[in-house]
Amino acid sequence: MKRACVIGWPVEHSRSPTIHRYWLKLYGIDGAYEKEAVPPEQAKDFIRSLAKHGYAGANVTLPHKLVAFEAADIADAAARAIGAANTLWLDGAGRLQATNTDAYGFMTNLNEQASGWNQGRRPVMVLGAGGAARAVLYGLIEAGVSKIALANRSRARAEDLAVAFGPKVETVDWEDRDGALAACGLLVNTTSLGMTGQGPLKIDLAKLPAGAVVADIVYSPLETPLLATARARGNIAVDGLGMLLHQAVPGFERWFGVRPEVTPELKAHVAATLGAK
Ligand SMILES: NC(=O)c1ccc[n+]([C@@H]2O[C@H](COP(=O)([O-])OP(=O)(O)OC[C@H]3O[C@@H](n4cnc5c(N)ncnc54)[C@H](OP(=O)(O)O)[C@@H]3O)[C@@H](O)[C@H]2O)c1
Repeated sequence: MKRACVIGWPVEHSRSPTIHRYWLKLYGIDGAYEKEAVPPEQAKDFIRSLAKHGYAGANVTLPHKLVAFEAADIADAAARAIGAANTLWLDGAGRLQATNTDAYGFMTNLNEQASGWNQGRRPVMVLGAGGAARAVLYGLIEAGVSKIALANRSRARAEDLAVAFGPKVETVDWEDRDGALAACGLLVNTTSLGMTGQGPLKIDLAKLPAGAVVADIVYSPLETPLLATARARGNIAVDGLGMLLHQAVPGFERWFGVRPEVTPELKAHVAATLGAK
């Protein structure tokens, strides 16, 4: 029996077991997917001894994504650009390989839910400069976006990302975010604002062009106030749950040998655990 797990601290909140166990059952695979609560001081040792714990690989969630990247023998281009890993597997030679599938998940979901998002080749506005923002910037630049306006409450963090990702990324003051929407074809929220238990995201969409797409990577609630406002004014709204589901695909394929599908049934199954529609 093949086994994989999600490693985090805490790990109780993780939706990964719901996703992977759904696929294991659907495809009739003799496998298991566990939750591993590992405190920070034990994370590196645990990750380095996945085989000893009986695992073919793992997902890694907060706060261990950086340690996972550093502990791996081989990290791919996405993990290196993002500076963090969320998916690990042991290859045929027993080496620990690492990738980051958040950019893949974000872009696959965006292309699926709003296929014409880059038709006008207009600038993109990204809110936030945390770990998820790095993945979104990497995905957008790989997809050929030519200009990204990046606004974050702590401007220094946005400037660090602009340096890391190059001249396509220009920082905008957090206070100037409403005005900067005027020329944009896509707005992406990567802050935790709007998430259940967090403060609201305050933004005025009045200047955002009618044909622009609005994506929120927050998935709890599924329909954030940002997405509801965008939808009400006619913009295409892209929720964050699709990103979460798609980012799980490459890991499942590595560990269990089947490339799983993200279907409306899976989305409804996971949404039900969020108390969402
Ligand atoms: N859909 C998915 O698959 C997926 C994947 C990854 C993450 N996410 C979601 O994305 C969100 C961010 O995750 P992360 O890992 O990037 O977190 P993070 O590294 O902690 O970054 C949090 C970001 O939110 C901003 N922020 C927090 N409180 C704020 C406030 N009161 N006012 C203004 N800005 C505020 C932070 O700004 P400062 O820099 O100023 O603190 C930072 O830019 C979370 O809700 C997470 O659940 C979703």
